[in-house]
Amino acid sequence: MNIVETATRPWPDQRPGTSGLRKKVQVFQQPNYLENFVQSIFDSLDDHQGKTLVVGGDGRFYNRHATGIILRMAAANGFGKVLVGQGGLLSTPAVSCVIRKHKTFGGIILSASHNPAGEDGDFGIKYNVGNGGPAPESVTDSIYANSRRIERYRIVELDAPDLDRIGETMLGSMQVEIIDPVSDYTELMQHLFDFDRIRSMLNSGLFTLRFDAMHAITGPYAREILEHRLGAGADDLINATPLEDFGGGHPDPNLVYAKQLVDIMFAADGPSFGAASDGDGDRNMILGRRCFVTPSDSLAILAANAHLVPGYRQGLAGIARSMPTSQAADRVAERLGIELYETPTGWKFFGNLLDAGKATLCGEESFGTGSDHVREKDGLWAVLFWLNLLAIHKEPVADIVTGHWRSYGRNYYSRHDYEGVNADGAGELMEILRKQSGNLKGKRFGDYEIDFSDDFAYTDPIDDSVSERQGIRIGFTDGSRMVFRLSGTGTEGATLRVYLERYEPDPAKQSADAQDALSDLIRIAGEVAAIRHHTGREAPTVIT
Ligand code: G1P
Ligand code: ZN
Repeated sequence: MNIVETATRPWPDQRPGTSGLRKKVQVFQQPNYLENFVQSIFDSLDDHQGKTLVVGGDGRFYNRHATGIILRMAAANGFGKVLVGQGGLLSTPAVSCVIRKHKTFGGIILSASHNPAGEDGDFGIKYNVGNGGPAPESVTDSIYANSRRIERYRIVELDAPDLDRIGETMLGSMQVEIIDPVSDYTELMQHLFDFDRIRSMLNSGLFTLRFDAMHAITGPYAREILEHRLGAGADDLINATPLEDFGGGHPDPNLVYAKQLVDIMFAADGPSFGAASDGDGDRNMILGRRCFVTPSDSLAILAANAHLVPGYRQGLAGIARSMPTSQAADRVAERLGIELYETPTGWKFFGNLLDAGKATLCGEESFGTGSDHVREKDGLWAVLFWLNLLAIHKEPVADIVTGHWRSYGRNYYSRHDYEGVNADGAGELMEILRKQSGNLKGKRFGDYEIDFSDDFAYTDPIDDSVSERQGIRIGFTDGSRMVFRLSGTGTEGATLRVYLERYEPDPAKQSADAQDALSDLIRIAGEVAAIRHHTGREAPTVIT
């Protein structure tokens, strides 16, 4: 085989973040940049010779080019076979599903999730291990260490195969199988949810649906599952053709970036149910007619109702949520008598709990929900779960949500993001909070008194690994909370995230607008962290 070893020099900035390596496309286009990182991944693996790798991405600009390079490097690095989604496409949860179903050695996902795409946008690359989940920190640390001392990469001097033609070909002595990106995933969804029941609901004429794929990867998945299998109308899917620049949009399913869908759902005669997913298909936003379900509430509601859905009929082993996610799910876990795990931000922290059978459902406030069916969060899975519940309850989304609050109390919740702020200022804000955090107890702000404050550290209950400095938590005596942390996924300056939460047990007082209900806490957060001083910003850029 024509294997070439190309000499190269390390790039200084290839440390994987919250979710792999994410950079501007232009950064990835620098000579050897992509190749160095891919070789650093391969150099961090043991025993991959002759094994199978999965490769696919969200279809953004550079996806095709990178897929070709990875295939040629995988062949030169001794992989026996690569499964590639047709066109180089696979959603993030679908990669996880394919790794698990075909018991492959690992997989590479090409995506920068919801970050804008195109020649001036972002690109990203992430390695997932044999359980289908993101590589643990031990692996990402080793990838980074390799990237700092790399001297050569291996590639075959052969043309990459045609990515559009389903079937098997050889690349040197490595087999390449181009697979339908949707079919394994669809089969898994069919196994978890009651498709017949959902189909009857969609055909009843009493229920209307709108799904927004935001010109990203879930378009083809939604066409197959929602339209072809479940009978949704073609017009029920919007922005369902994936585009290399995501149509110039920002495919993050939230109230700001999915405005088109939000406007449809809040119109007088809006559909019964609306949902959107992000660039790579792992996030979800759930809406009812004139109703937004916060991701934290969504996790709690799915958990409370999971026993009604075929895939979870046997009950839940436990629930896991990221630390900044609201405590709504904690109340459900308590009533179900199951364990609730609080983990740092990032899906990778759920992997061990899911593998060990300690948690069945997990979620993050950042529009991520999932279960032990794969090892990534899963946008369409959450949509199907909701559709299954709606088909059972036959109630509007808003009634399901308020019914849940009546029963469990409401955790008012909001996240305020200050995007693209000066990194030094944001770092200073965090440092000062960190220094203060030990001595805030007892401090009063109007009716609120600080009960505790710390810098969240997590000890993994399975492997005892410790992750420190995961965000400053400030808890108040009435159970309210605020959390401050810096984003690990942004690519410009720094992004400060402020998470706010207040619990209201009394159903008579639960209907306020979340921003109103949280207004005191919002003011206190500004004061405690001197946000305006450190960021120079009067207001957040995104409120969810
Ligand atoms: C963000 C979210 C986090 C999520 C991650 C990857 O990370 O906050 O919950 O797991 O994207 O989708 P952050 O930018 O806050 O580090
Ligand atoms: Zn994503």
